[in-house]
Amino acid sequence: MLKTGSQGPAISTNFAVAFKDEASGSIGLEVQNGVYFRTAKVGYWLGLEHWGKGIMSRLVPPFVQWAWESFDVLGRLNAETAETNLASGKVLHKAGFKFEGRRPDVVCKNRAILAVLMWGAMKPR
Ligand SMILES: CC(C)(COP(=O)(O)OP(=O)(O)OC[C@H]1O[C@@H](n2cnc3c(N)ncnc32)[C@H](O)[C@@H]1OP(=O)(O)O)[C@@H](O)C(=O)NCCC(=O)NCCS
Repeated sequence: MLKTGSQGPAISTNFAVAFKDEASGSIGLEVQNGVYFRTAKVGYWLGLEHWGKGIMSRLVPPFVQWAWESFDVLGRLNAETAETNLASGKVLHKAGFKFEGRRPDVVCKNRAILAVLMWGAMKPR
């Protein structure tokens, strides 16, 4: 099992996503520091033209599994989605994340001020 240290994780935690051999997005894990060392943040995105093809529904669950298996120290994974991004919430739900709350007025996109939804997954026992 790998551990994280003061220099950060010992292996790559950020990856390009390819669909039909074309760079389409990315997915990554940001391991937290200090008292948060047991927590990591999962982030991902796809180019708009690749949305709705089921790519992240297929990719995020095994990525989460890889995170648990690769970093024994982790006890929790966090993720955030813009409130309007229903697809992203569904992707996280299917990867075992639970909805944990709503933070208003966090992001500003196309001049609209939006809430973010907070999601969390605990290490399977
Ligand atoms: C998350 C994101 C990558 C979409 O991934 P995706 O591969 O297109 O998602 P999928 O095709 O697997 O669809 C997931 C679900 O959302 C549904 N869906 C797709 N587009 C949708 C839309 N516009 N509105 C509502 N639901 C939608 C799909 O039907 C599917 O539903 P199901 O679970 O009932 O089958 C895309 O929203 C994105 O890049 N968002 C910006 C970054 C982001 O939000 N990251 C979140 C964590 S950091």
